[in-house]
Amino acid sequence: MELMFGALLFHLLLYCANQTSGVTIQTVPTVDSEGVIQTELEKTVSLVCQPDGGHEADEELQWLRNGFAVHLTEENRMNHSSVCVTPVLYEDNGATFTCRRRNNATATASVTLNVTYRPQLSGSEEVSVEEESMLVLPCDIWANPPVSSVSWSLNGSAVDLLAGGFSVTNDGFTSTISADKVEKSLHEGTYQCTAESPIYGSHNKTFIVTLTDKTLTIPLMPFIAGLVVVFFTVLLAVASRWNRIRKVNAAYDDILLHNNVRLLSKGRVLERFWAIRKHLQMFLSEQKNAKAKQYLDFLQDDEKMECVAFLVDVTSHLNELNLKLQDDANLLQRTFASDLE
Ligand SMILES: *[C@@H]1O[C@H](CO)[C@@H](O)[C@H](O)[C@H]1NC(C)=O
Ligand SMILES: *[C@@H]1O[C@H](CO)[C@@H](O)[C@H](O)[C@H]1NC(C)=O
Ligand SMILES: *[C@@H]1O[C@H](CO)[C@@H](O)[C@H](O)[C@H]1NC(C)=O
Ligand SMILES: *[C@@H]1O[C@H](CO)[C@@H](O)[C@H](O)[C@H]1NC(C)=O
Ligand SMILES: *[C@@H]1O[C@H](CO)[C@@H](O)[C@H](O)[C@H]1NC(C)=O
Repeated sequence: MELMFGALLFHLLLYCANQTSGVTIQTVPTVDSEGVIQTELEKTVSLVCQPDGGHEADEELQWLRNGFAVHLTEENRMNHSSVCVTPVLYEDNGATFTCRRRNNATATASVTLNVTYRPQLSGSEEVSVEEESMLVLPCDIWANPPVSSVSWSLNGSAVDLLAGGFSVTNDGFTSTISADKVEKSLHEGTYQCTAESPIYGSHNKTFIVTLTDKTLTIPLMPFIAGLVVVFFTVLLAVASRWNRIRKVNAAYDDILLHNNVRLLSKGRVLERFWAIRKHLQMFLSEQKNAKAKQYLDFLQDDEKMECVAFLVDVTSHLNELNLKLQDDANLLQRTFASDLE
């Protein structure tokens, strides 16, 4: 009873407030008792403002949107004034439109728009992820009113967060599921993100996730080191031969058999090392001291061994290049020699 009386009093007060505000706004769609107009994206809202009671003289009206004047044409100011919001956009949500008399700033009336929109979730997307890399699936759940729940499924049943090492975050705009190091058996499949809206029902989006084999990435540091070695070796090789050629040219001198390019023999060492690495491992595993353990760890580290293999490869190519250069230099030398005889 008391509640009913309270509600009645409230409406009476509201009625009076409307009557004494000096202006009245008529709206399509209709405004509720709290001055809110419910609308949706792409729709149209029209507002018409009139001064209350009989107006003796011309009444000039003004419109404000969130406190800023709305530009009105000359004919749309006197005695009554209308404003049309079309199409309704995201940014119209919460916008307040105020009408007032120009000659009496206390005579005002306002309405506020409540623009509702559904979460933008639909369709399906194919995602391919490299094995052992990170999986991140974002789901756009932004909606008005906010979604009441978001759930993730994998192959039709709720995602087992613990088993797959998944984590789910939600900032009100996006719900994201992610996993750090993906494995085919655990992470491949069809994911679905489902959001429940209190007024628009359930919306979902599908992600078809396939895992691809891990591609071998070139180890960057050894690669740069390799390039530097190549550069200096070629430089040294050319310089040493240049010297030799000049000497031959100048004084028919005896040929320098000495090789300045000592670096290259390291390639051979590496090749030998590579060939017996299994035996080295065996030998080291039989040793008891800490240093041996350290070397053994190095030999058993796949990533480090990839680098070593790369260096072995680069230096063996350098050896080959060096041999070829020697051949060419010899040829050059012989040509010089025969000319001079
Ligand atoms: C201005 O409008 C208010 C509300 O309608 C009214 O009470 C007041 O008398 C008006 N003042 C003048 C100067 O017209
Ligand atoms: C506004 O209303 C007054 C009084 O009814 C009238 O005399 C006047 O012509 C109207 N002005 C316009 C622009 O319609
Ligand atoms: C807007 O309308 C929705 C749906 O009726 C409602 O849930 C929400 O609370 C309203 N928001 C505001 C700010 O009035
Ligand atoms: C999901 O289903 C696909 C196809 O049946 C299957 O290949 C995949 O292993 C399943 N994923 C999981 C995590 O069970
Ligand atoms: C996902 O949404 C589509 C419509 O977009 C609907 O047909 C389907 O039943 C929904 N799937 C689930 C599992 O809710």
